Amino acid sequence: MRRLFIAVLLVSALANTSHSQSVVDTTLLLSKNDMQWWRDAKFGLFIHFGLYAIPGRGEWVMWEEQIDTAEYSKLRDKFTCEKFDAAQWVDIAKHAGCKYMVVTARHHDGFCLFDTHFGDYDARHSAAKRDLIGEYVDAAHKAGMRTGIYYSPLDWRYPGFFFPELYRTNAEEMKKQTYAQVRELLTQYGKIDILWYDGGEDNWLGFGGLKWDGGSGWHTRGFEKPYTGKFSWGPIKLNTMVRELQPAIVISQRSGWMGDFETQEVRLREPTENRPWELCTNLGGTAWGWTPSAAAQAMSLDSCIALLVRVVSQDGNLLLNVGPRPDGSIEPAQVHWLKEIGDFLLKYGESIYNTRGGIYDARWGGSTITERAVYVHIVNVPPEKAVSLPPISQQVTSARYLRDNSKATFVQSDAGISLVNIADRQSEPDLIIKLTLK
Ligand code: GLC
Repeated sequence: MRRLFIAVLLVSALANTSHSQSVVDTTLLLSKNDMQWWRDAKFGLFIHFGLYAIPGRGEWVMWEEQIDTAEYSKLRDKFTCEKFDAAQWVDIAKHAGCKYMVVTARHHDGFCLFDTHFGDYDARHSAAKRDLIGEYVDAAHKAGMRTGIYYSPLDWRYPGFFFPELYRTNAEEMKKQTYAQVRELLTQYGKIDILWYDGGEDNWLGFGGLKWDGGSGWHTRGFEKPYTGKFSWGPIKLNTMVRELQPAIVISQRSGWMGDFETQEVRLREPTENRPWELCTNLGGTAWGWTPSAAAQAMSLDSCIALLVRVVSQDGNLLLNVGPRPDGSIEPAQVHWLKEIGDFLLKYGESIYNTRGGIYDARWGGSTITERAVYVHIVNVPPEKAVSLPPISQQVTSARYLRDNSKATFVQSDAGISLVNIADRQSEPDLIIKLTLK
C-alpha cells in the first residue's frame, strides 16, 4: 500500500513536472503550412493498449507493483486480442468526430504492438501472433483518418534507464532500441502523421536514482532537477532521422526536443504563447490503460464539451483517451459516450474544426474564430444572461443561435461586443451563438 502510495506520488510528480526540459531547436520544426491540418483538426482519439490491459490495473502496473520483467512478460501468452478489430477502432474515432488518432505502439513496459526486429518482445510473438499497428495504420489509411503513433523511449526493462551512469552499456543498448524501432515504425507502414513520444526527456531519466551528495548522504534526485549525467537520447539526432524518414510528421514534445507541439496532461496549464499545444486526458477513470472501472464514466457529455470548448477557445487540441479491454475491444459504454460527442460535433462542427482560439472566460465559456465568423460558446449561461467580448475591427452583421438559427441580441461598439438576453441552454451542452462578420 505504502509502495503504491509512493508510486502514485511519483506518477503525479512526473505528470506535474515532466515534459518541460526540452532542447530548443527551431530548425527541425514543421512549417506553418505542414502544421495546419493538425491545428484545424482540434479533436483526436488516444488509445492505450498493451499487455497491461490484462491485469487491468493501469498501464503503470509493472512499475507500481514492481513486477519482475520475466514475470510480466508472461502476459504475452494471454494476449490473444480475439476482438481486436482495427477498422472498428477507426470507425469509433470517426463517429466521435475525431480527426486523428494516436495509438500506443509501445508503452514504458517495452512491449511492442508492431513487428520489431530489435528482439521479439512484440504482439507477433504473443498469443495474438499479429502486427496490431500494421492493421491499425492500414485501417486508418483506408478511412482517411490521420494516423498517429505513440512511442515511449523509456523502457522499464532496462536498468540503464534507472541508473544511466552505472549501467551505461545497457542504457546505450536501450537508446539503440529507440532509434531502431522508431525507424521501423516510420518505414514499415507508409505515411504516419504524428509521432507521439512519451518519457524521452532528461528529467525522466534515472527516476529511480539516488544521489550521493557527500554531506547529508543518499537522497533522491527530485524530478524537478533534470538528469545531468553523460547519457543522452540525442533528441536532435533522433528527430533529424525522423524528418528524413517522414518529412511532414508532427512530433510531440516528449523526446527531449521541443517538438512541433506542446503536450499538456489532464490538468490544463496556461499554454505557451505561439506554440501549438494539445491537452490529453481520459474519457473515463484515471489510468490510461483499461481498468474494470473504465465502463463507469468519469466525464459526462457536458464536461467533455465544456473541456473541448476550454481547449479550442485557447487555441489547443484535445486528445481524448480510451483503454480497450484485454480482448482488444473498446467498452461499449465508452463507444456510446464517444458517439454522443460525435453527434454534437456533427451538428456544431463548424464552430470547432478549422477555427482558431478567441477568448476564454471561466464564468461562461469561450469563443472560436474564423475569417468570417466568431462563435461564442456558452457552457454556463451567467445569471445576468449577458456576456461581453473584446472589440474587433470587423463589423458583426448578424448574431444567431446555431441550434435553430434564431436571432440573438447583440450590441457592437468601440468597447466591444455585448450579447444580451441570452436564451436558456436547455439540454444542449454548449449554447453557441454565431456572429457573422463583414
Ligand atoms: C504519462 C504516463 C503515461 C501516459 C501518458 C499520456 O506520461 O507515463 O502512462 O501514457 O502520460 O500522456
